[in-house]
Amino acid sequence: AADLEGDLVNILFTEEDIQRRLAEMARQIEQDYEGEDLLIVGVLRGAVMVMADMARSFNRHLEMDWMAVSSYGSGTKSSGVVRILKDLDTDISGRHVLIVDEIIDTGLTLSWLTANLASRNAASVEICTLLRKPEALTMQVDVKYVGWDIPNEFVVGYGLDYNERYRNLRDIGTLAPHVYS
Ligand code: PRP
Ligand code: MG
Repeated sequence: AADLEGDLVNILFTEEDIQRRLAEMARQIEQDYEGEDLLIVGVLRGAVMVMADMARSFNRHLEMDWMAVSSYGSGTKSSGVVRILKDLDTDISGRHVLIVDEIIDTGLTLSWLTANLASRNAASVEICTLLRKPEALTMQVDVKYVGWDIPNEFVVGYGLDYNERYRNLRDIGTLAPHVYS
């Protein structure tokens, strides 16, 4: 773990910070959805860690499902087009849906996903994200639960990748310059 963590130049949130915040958010969500059924939907692949840890912070019944989406084409999100790579296995009509992701950057992914799920006649569709970059937002996204707002810096760890690596870091931080070169 030392080698992997050694690539971080600055740790923004430790494993302990993250677990504490997720537990706080779970308590709030338990209150808000008291007496209601709840389906949490994780956005593959980055949300795997948040889903696994947050789900285990709950002391109530819930169901879990997953979606995978991708911006269309070359990997830049500038086209504004999102496509479904893996759809839900669950019929969400009449269900209370909470979308869980680890970061909102431009907002494209979650604004599109929220509209898409709402069109399936869900009883409600809300968003829970561990991180949000207010300065990077290019569209309006109504987020009900946010772990932390962060500056517009590239962060890795806890599901967040750089070229598919660093997702398995326990902490969240910024990469040392030598990693990019
Ligand atoms: C990342 C991240 C969010 C999304 C946020 O996922 O996990 O889902 O981008 O960016 P946005 O607000 O600009 O849409 P990505 O599409 O890179 O795939 P991944 O989850 O597999 O890493
Ligand atoms: Mg993602």
